[in-house]
Amino acid sequence: NAKKRKINRKNLNTLDVDRDNPLKGKLIIQMFEKVSTRTRLSFYIAIKQLGGSALTLRSDELHLAKGESLADTAKILSTYGNAFMLRTDSDEKLKEFKKHINIPIINGLSPSSHPTQVLSDIFTIEEIKKKPISKLNICWIGDANNNVINSLIVASVKFSFNLNIGCPKKYEPKKPLLSWVKKNRGKIYIFNDVKKAANNADVIFTDKVISMNDKINKAKKIKDFRNFTVTTKIIDCAKKDVIFLHCLPRGSEVSNEVFLGKHSKVWLQALNRVYLQKSILLYCLDKL
Ligand code: CP
Ligand code: NVA
Repeated sequence: NAKKRKINRKNLNTLDVDRDNPLKGKLIIQMFEKVSTRTRLSFYIAIKQLGGSALTLRSDELHLAKGESLADTAKILSTYGNAFMLRTDSDEKLKEFKKHINIPIINGLSPSSHPTQVLSDIFTIEEIKKKPISKLNICWIGDANNNVINSLIVASVKFSFNLNIGCPKKYEPKKPLLSWVKKNRGKIYIFNDVKKAANNADVIFTDKVISMNDKINKAKKIKDFRNFTVTTKIIDCAKKDVIFLHCLPRGSEVSNEVFLGKHSKVWLQALNRVYLQKSILLYCLDKL
């Protein structure tokens, strides 16, 4: 669906509505407790292209921040909106909203997961490689304990692809997640050596060493990752036509040469979030 809609609007302007106008009159309310550039813009453009509209809120401009209950807030959001997208600093809050809200709720990044990002990245990979992701070797270098890799791990089981992870011992994925992978016959291989992890990869991902929600000694963490930077040496261990992806924003985990080099598809990756968000919205509103 995302691909079809993308192709169908080749000559249209950013805010022109898709010909079938499927979400005409619908309102998505999106609320951010953390900064966001891509998620905010892509959801806004996505709903506009589907014929609806978006209202973007900062959590601190709601009475919720001054003591109105979450349950009442959720009730009000359900009264006015057709879908609710939340970027939150608390997984608990996401669960609470889910409990009280009567409209579809979308996780726009939480401390533990970033599902809309990973779905979009799978779309980008399959678009470029012209193959189902289950036929590809995916490699993740860097912090293996953050929201993006958690969602990628879950996706590796759901979409059945090989996932090599290259990270320092201390930053390996958490035990309960690994046990879940094992139980579900996931194909995840963990290395503490970057070159081994990158061997034969079709796709190399990385993400910032310091995530928005990290409440740790940042200088120490950055030092722990000094041998886990994605450089051309790492790219050379992978397949010749390997692609490099990064959800952005970036930090010191990738060299400029790789980030701006010929293997990098980061700008297309960011753009494709618009097309995947459209499928998410259509799915949530029963129009897929
Ligand atoms: N990749 C991503 O989610 O970017 P933003 O934090 O800018 O939304
Ligand atoms: N892991 C990063 C992703 C940003 C889109 C963070 O949580 O800050």
